[in-house]
Amino acid sequence: MMDDKLKSLQTMFETVLNTSKKLEKSYSELKKKFEILEGKLERNRKYLENILKSIDSGVCAVDLEGRITTFNRKATQVFGVKEDDVKGKHFGEVFAIEEIKDVTADGIVGFFKGGKKVNLDIKGEEKILDISASLVLEEDKESGAVVVFSDITQVEKLKEESAKREKLAIIGQMAASIAHDIKNPLASIELLVPLLDDGTKKDIVENIMVSIKRINNIINNTLLFTKTINYTPEKIDTSELVDEVKLELMTQIRDVEFKEKIERFEFVSDKNLLKSALVNVLSNAFDAAQNTVELRVYKNKRVVFEVVDDGEGIKDLDRVFEPFYTSKKNGTGLGLAIVKEAVDVLNGKIEVKTSDNGTVFRIVL
Ligand SMILES: Nc1ncnc2c1ncn2[C@@H]1O[C@H](COP(=O)(O)OP(=O)(O)OP(=O)(O)O)[C@@H](O)[C@H]1O
Ligand SMILES: [Mg+2]
Repeated sequence: MMDDKLKSLQTMFETVLNTSKKLEKSYSELKKKFEILEGKLERNRKYLENILKSIDSGVCAVDLEGRITTFNRKATQVFGVKEDDVKGKHFGEVFAIEEIKDVTADGIVGFFKGGKKVNLDIKGEEKILDISASLVLEEDKESGAVVVFSDITQVEKLKEESAKREKLAIIGQMAASIAHDIKNPLASIELLVPLLDDGTKKDIVENIMVSIKRINNIINNTLLFTKTINYTPEKIDTSELVDEVKLELMTQIRDVEFKEKIERFEFVSDKNLLKSALVNVLSNAFDAAQNTVELRVYKNKRVVFEVVDDGEGIKDLDRVFEPFYTSKKNGTGLGLAIVKEAVDVLNGKIEVKTSDNGTVFRIVL
């Protein structure tokens, strides 16, 4: 009797043992499977992360309330922040867009519907972003939104620039044809005006001649600015060059003392281009000078021209070479634009040093 009981107990125990062994086996199989799956999941996560990292667009995911959950590498570069700095913050706050501060994911998607170009002030720098957004669905339920954007600042700037350039080209053509039409009658006036002087009208005649020279200068600048400049080299003697430059500036060398320090030598360059560059720089110096303008010409390894004035200096150094930038009532703002172009064609360079006590323009060929 006792034996029977013991036996059946033993069988039961063995069954339990077997079952538990099986259980253990299937548990470890399950664990293995789980580990494989987890590995896959981790690989997928890494894969997604890498895609997000290498993508050239900014990607920013937000939760239902519009709080940032993912900010990819490009996004951190555009905004100059770390992902951890913006995670958890509201999208509208990070992007500093007033209209969508505190709106939900839905609101964000609605705001950028169909893509939008926005100008943002990012740490004091103006950037233009092209932004679009879509909802993220999880099993047919909204779980947030993903915002994708590209930094198109450069592209937009280039577009703007080329539009400006086109406009300039048209204005240029117009100006050139007007200038050309004025040139001939002006030449006749220049010839005839001195004949008006019967000995009593010297001052008037001189005044008219100064004005004519000025108009001539404007016309020459306009024509030079609008035509393509060619380089025609010739042998140039520094003294002769300076004499010719002075002749063109005669009407401007007035109550200002003009000092010259000219080394005499010969070199090869385009005389007309060089002359127009020097005339324009000197003419500015005469306009600016308090008492003296100095022209220095010398040679180290290269040929150097320096124009020094004792004026009040240049106010907006960044802009002086821009066409049409002028601070003068009667200026065209083309002088230095032409100088720059001429020096470029001459394969030289131009440097400017300016302070409250004066300005030095140095052209090095
Ligand atoms: N030596 C200088 N000292 C101070 N400011 C200068 C000097 N040279 C140039 N500038 C500044 O740069 C601006 C642009 O010069 P630019 O020669 O291009 O045009 P402009 O002299 O105004 O006109 P234009 O040459 O047609 O007479 C000037 O209006 C002036 O404000
Ligand atoms: Mg000028």
